[in-house]
Amino acid sequence: MRKRGTFGSSLGTIMVVGGSVIGLGNIWRFPYVAGENGGAAFILIYLAINFLISVPLMFSEFSIGRAAKSNAMRSFRRLSPVKSWQGVGYLGIATSFVILSFYSVIAGWALEFLRESIAGTFMQLDPAGIKAHFDDFVASGWGPIGWVIAFVALNGIVVSFGIEKGIERFNKTAMPMMLVILVIMCINSFFLSGFREGATFLLRPDFSKVTPAMIMQALGQSFFSLSVGMGAMITYGSYIKKDDNMFRIGGTVAISDVTVAILSGLAIFPAVFSYGISPTSGPELVFLTLPNIFAQMPGGQIFAILFFLLLFAAAITSSVSLMEVAVAYVSEEFRLRRRIATLIITLCVMGTATLCALSQMPGSSLTVAGQNLFDLFDNVSSTYMMPLGGLLIVIFAGWVMRRDLFLRELTSNGRFGHRLSRPVYFMIRYAIPIAIAMLFLSKLGWLQF
Ligand code: TRP
Repeated sequence: MRKRGTFGSSLGTIMVVGGSVIGLGNIWRFPYVAGENGGAAFILIYLAINFLISVPLMFSEFSIGRAAKSNAMRSFRRLSPVKSWQGVGYLGIATSFVILSFYSVIAGWALEFLRESIAGTFMQLDPAGIKAHFDDFVASGWGPIGWVIAFVALNGIVVSFGIEKGIERFNKTAMPMMLVILVIMCINSFFLSGFREGATFLLRPDFSKVTPAMIMQALGQSFFSLSVGMGAMITYGSYIKKDDNMFRIGGTVAISDVTVAILSGLAIFPAVFSYGISPTSGPELVFLTLPNIFAQMPGGQIFAILFFLLLFAAAITSSVSLMEVAVAYVSEEFRLRRRIATLIITLCVMGTATLCALSQMPGSSLTVAGQNLFDLFDNVSSTYMMPLGGLLIVIFAGWVMRRDLFLRELTSNGRFGHRLSRPVYFMIRYAIPIAIAMLFLSKLGWLQF
């Protein structure tokens, strides 16, 4: 068998996993979801879910991947004689396609906006002009498709260079750059007149918004943001060295995830309030509201360039982790060279992502049950595929995988996290599956609180 790659260094591993975790979920999705769902009340529940459910789920995925040293499907085969468990791997690979398809569309918008920021296009437009410009762009179909294809191709290039020379090297450059940009934007935000109001909008707790539906949304956001529930961390786990400390990797990235999400909110909302624009605009916050603000802000063009560069970098460091799930599977199972496997997956994703972009044209027939393909993929992955995948993964780790093998992986052969490993294992066996199952059933309407 061909030799499998591993990550080169501990720091590199944290950057790679952090690159996957920190993405559009933090910058594009978290601020508006938190703002709409009760601010700090949402953030608190999100934090609790992160540490009590998603991080132990991440440990389960790392342990499965590192024990089996295999792609998401084969890992289940290796660790259990019951063949049907490999279905969880297939579910994960399918999920990676679904997410990658709509994710690439938004990443493509980021590229278009980066180009426009450099060209200064929206700097001269008034709010109505900016809205019309955005709608025209999305509705044109062909503009977004060009960028989607470019974005997926860039992904393919990074992934084709392999684990250490491609993915790790790329993340080690992109991650520090993202941090610098985010810090510059937050400092600028701090000096805006609307800082207080923006921070209040993001952080003021409104506990009346706490409902089962909101908790389910926090769970969906948490899984999405921490890249768990579909085998990306099984795949990355299989490249983590045997003597690396999982607790440190998981803890560091989970803290970075929330920090970046809140910092993004703090970079965005104060500007929104300073220029008297309503913050409600949901997913369009980043592509409609912000360009308006950049057009008015002193030095706005520079901030626009920085921001869309940040958004693009955040997206691509995440999407390579999604693509790697499918590439590892295809190259290992069909014994193909990495380059060939990457090419095949790249072409397939270009196809499905193009359909997502096309489905946003007005009057498009690419709809299912009244939702266009783009919204459908976004909903189905976060609401059904990842909670279901996450549930099955913790059940596998807690009940199917041999206990001694699991604990040995979790603690890196007894090196780290002695005291933590027992409570974490207990949670993985009992509390977490029950919690995910209850939330999932309530979402399906089969269980009422
Ligand atoms: N976590 C990324 C974000 O917040 C998205 C992502 C990357 C992802 N890999 C994943 C989501 C795997 C789910 C599963 O944008």
